[in-house]
Amino acid sequence: MKKKLFQITLFNSILLLFGCTAVSEEDLVDATPIPETITFNENVKPIIDNNCIICHSNPPQNGAPMPLVSYENVKEAVQNRNLIGRISSDDPVFMMPFGGPRLPQNLIDIIIQWNEDGLIEE
Ligand code: HEC
Repeated sequence: MKKKLFQITLFNSILLLFGCTAVSEEDLVDATPIPETITFNENVKPIIDNNCIICHSNPPQNGAPMPLVSYENVKEAVQNRNLIGRISSDDPVFMMPFGGPRLPQNLIDIIIQWNEDGLIEE
């Protein structure tokens, strides 16, 4: 009788152990979604839409010199208008979004990674 109880307990412990391992691994994946490849449509466009197109619309508003509404617009700004320098800057007269606040670093890193990956559209 005692032995049987021990076996059941042991069996449950093993179940529990595997159960917990599986759950925590899943949690870890959910908490840190690192995309394999950064693409404009998936990863970059939402950042620009949320933080830049209030001014960089088409036509642009509030003195902004160009739109950032399409893949071509944003690609051109990364290549010729120092977009990454502007969003990485701490200088209040140079940084974008204009007038701040600076974007969270993880969003800046996504755009830097997008450039390093070759400015993939989709
Ligand atoms: C509140 C309005 C506003 C917002 C929001 C804004 N910008 Fe700007 N942006 C401007 C203005 C005005 C200029 C022109 C003045 C200057 O260069 O500082 C400008 C200039 C720029 C330039 C330089 C263009 C050139 O030809 O030199 C880049 C690149 C840029 N913005 C990118 C961005 C990005 C990326 C975002 C979002 C993260 C953003 N901006 C958000 C108003 C804004």
